[in-house]
Amino acid sequence: MQTLRRLGRRGFKGSLKHAFGLGISGIWRTGELYRRHARVNWHNRRYDTIHGVNTWRALAPGDLETDNANKGLSENYIPSPENTFHFMLSLLELELDYTDFTFVDFGAGKGKALLMAADYPFKKITGVEFASNLHQIARNNIAHYKSRQQRCFDVDVVLEDACKLILPEGQCLLFLYAPFFGPVLGKVLENIRQSLTENPRQTALCFIDDDVPDSTIEQVAATVEEWGLFTRHAVTELPPDSGALMPMAGTFWLSNWTAGVLPARSNPDFN
Ligand SMILES: C[S@@+](CC[C@H](N)C(=O)[O-])C[C@H]1O[C@@H](n2cnc3c(N)ncnc32)[C@H](O)[C@@H]1O
Repeated sequence: MQTLRRLGRRGFKGSLKHAFGLGISGIWRTGELYRRHARVNWHNRRYDTIHGVNTWRALAPGDLETDNANKGLSENYIPSPENTFHFMLSLLELELDYTDFTFVDFGAGKGKALLMAADYPFKKITGVEFASNLHQIARNNIAHYKSRQQRCFDVDVVLEDACKLILPEGQCLLFLYAPFFGPVLGKVLENIRQSLTENPRQTALCFIDDDVPDSTIEQVAATVEEWGLFTRHAVTELPPDSGALMPMAGTFWLSNWTAGVLPARSNPDFN
């Protein structure tokens, strides 16, 4: 994410100048970065062409159309890379019967994760996105999605702050791909804890992040595992993903069926 921010800030010429300042190795690293960037865009555009949608172009938080105060705690809009997404969902499918589950995407962006999830037999698929420009694009994408593999047709996306999302009633697969950080992440996790404490039900939480090794996964793990509601299923290594600029990491947690009601706790790590 930081790399993207730097690219956006300096532009092509600025980055070249910067690389010259760094010497031969800097020039090499900058060239490598642009090659990777071009490859990622090519893969993501190919996905869009095949499926008749528009998800590929990344956006910085400054381009998100929202006056929500949490805009400053948003990550960039980046579409979920395909290999990583399908790798995680295929692993989870070994544990869960998706026909009983609602897939929920926190920070749905242009809807790519919703579209990819629609190729699995979920009962329902929903997402929450707070930027009106992305929400509108996601709605168009859902309406125009073409896939012979599509198994779920009940797909929607709501325009709302993820902090305000009320979880659906039944069994859920909660999906987060590097959406936000700090207190927003803390509040979303706390809402999940409260909902499951009040209404215990089978739930999976899947968190994918990039910017490895500076990923927030371990911070999320510390909070979630302290609740005693979930058991972690570590994913040691993700396959290489040509749709990802940075190395990815992913983990999922499955709810403990026997979990009882826990006392309320705050999330000091995210304050
Ligand atoms: C990395 S993108 C993920 C997009 C999508 N989930 C996917 O996998 O293709 C993160 C998204 O989270 C959204 N976001 C950030 N903070 C949010 C908030 N508080 N409420 C709702 N959406 C938020 C951003 O606008 C951005 O679209």
